[in-house]
Amino acid sequence: MQEKQNISAFKSETIELVNKIINRYPEGRQKSALLPILHIAQAENNGWLSTGIMDYVALLLNLQPIEVYEVATFYSMFNLEPVGNCVIEVCQTGPCWLKGSDEILAHFEKRLGIKPGETTEDGKFTLKTVECLAACGNAPVIQVGTDYHENLTTEKVDELIEKWKAENKVSHSNPYL
Ligand code: FES
Repeated sequence: MQEKQNISAFKSETIELVNKIINRYPEGRQKSALLPILHIAQAENNGWLSTGIMDYVALLLNLQPIEVYEVATFYSMFNLEPVGNCVIEVCQTGPCWLKGSDEILAHFEKRLGIKPGETTEDGKFTLKTVECLAACGNAPVIQVGTDYHENLTTEKVDELIEKWKAENKVSHSNPYL
């Protein structure tokens, strides 16, 4: 059996929100709160879910840790390793590919000097590839936190990178606050 890492807790100001979400569901159905709680946990841990944090969420919802790992590893929006301040998710599915997502991805790689799954040395950017972001009509599309950027061109990518650098963009904010 895997040894548990340090159990982590939410910030005190977040506990009230977390309890409110859990209490939306009937007794014995707390598992239904797992996705929102994982989003909050990730936002509070600089954009990623450690084993310790997933174990804490399991305790909170009265689940087995494996039940939390199963969900966290299924969805690409959860990061299981440390990430940079600004996580850029480039859609690679058919419609975006037909509209030039390869060129968009290559431009991000060139501008940031990293490949998908990597983080810049200064910790500012992480690049990821993901499947359909459900905005195919405006392909090619990327997601950064809760923001979508659509109908992308390499010129727009340049503008976004400069803007994010200037504002020290942090993409992992709590979506429930
Ligand atoms: Fe990219 Fe659907 S294929 S948003």
